[in-house]
Amino acid sequence: MTNPFLPEPARIVRKFELAKDVRFFQIRFIDMERALSFGYTPGQFMMFSIPGTGEAPFSISSTPSRPGLLEFCIRKAGRLTEALFRLRENDGIGIRGPYGDGFPVNKMKGYDLLIIMGGLGAAPLRSLLLYALDNRELFGKLHLLYGAKRPKDMLFKKEFLEFIGREDIECLLTVDKDDAGKWPCYTGFVTSLFERIEDINAENTFACVCGPPVMYKFVLEKLVKLNIPKHQILMTLERRMKCGIGKCGHCAIEDIYTCMDGPVFTYWDVLHMKELI
Ligand SMILES: Cc1cc2nc3c(=O)[nH]c(=O)nc-3n(C[C@H](O)[C@H](O)[C@H](O)COP(=O)(O)OP(=O)(O)OC[C@H]3O[C@@H](n4cnc5c(N)ncnc54)[C@H](O)[C@@H]3O)c2cc1C
Ligand code: FES
Repeated sequence: MTNPFLPEPARIVRKFELAKDVRFFQIRFIDMERALSFGYTPGQFMMFSIPGTGEAPFSISSTPSRPGLLEFCIRKAGRLTEALFRLRENDGIGIRGPYGDGFPVNKMKGYDLLIIMGGLGAAPLRSLLLYALDNRELFGKLHLLYGAKRPKDMLFKKEFLEFIGREDIECLLTVDKDDAGKWPCYTGFVTSLFERIEDINAENTFACVCGPPVMYKFVLEKLVKLNIPKHQILMTLERRMKCGIGKCGHCAIEDIYTCMDGPVFTYWDVLHMKELI
């Protein structure tokens, strides 16, 4: 039996800065066949390992509808991420996965999508967003609401600004502060964008949320006010993880293993497991 902890060899194809202390990584399995056949669901994550440093989980930011390359958006936090930031394009790295329960994209077919992200919450939700855009006929209306602290903190800014004005997506971008006064979109918290969306059919909408812990309370209040059913409000949550495959117990809350049962949970799950947030 193959060892489930054994990372597979991969290399960094591209790496660049998205914002201060946040880097974009494009990664490919060394084995080209593996790279092209690798399947995953938006919302799933991979474990990265650097020999002598350790392992850490990162959400996949690319979409399975564009096979071959995996993309990640990583913030420098400590030992592993510092070592990762020191690596260069073409350097090798070990990866294993995909892990976790991602967004139930099959169940979401035919529904409108309301994607709400704050800060680094763009990491997992960009995967769902690009997946919906690549499979546009599978979904109803598509709304993106994204809030960052300042224009320079907005991840994938250039990519998302290009969505504005397109007919297949309503893209609303906001920043808390625009000191230079040059930001072309909105200012205010991400919750202020709710006033700008009118055509929400609550029963037919899946809302998908990821952002800093402080954002959830206010966004969830808005979603509940819109009458979106609690099992159609999905959020991706982070817990400390070690093995990623339900073996070590690090991520457990009662009988829930967030690495296996999550990281995507419904608001319904969260109401019954307050410790999840
Ligand atoms: C399912 C999942 C998906 C993730 N996706 C991403 C992603 O796409 N991009 C990204 O930048 N990060 C992501 N993270 C967080 C990332 O795994 C941690 O930042 C990373 O483990 C830090 O490793 P390190 O060795 O650099 O830092 P460490 O030396 O381990 O820790 C540095 C600091 O960060 C804290 N920390 C570590 N892990 C977490 C965590 N999970 N939650 C809160 N605080 C933590 C530690 O307490 C410490 O204060 C994800 C985490 C999970 C569980
Ligand atoms: S991280 Fe080991 S059980 Fe979830």
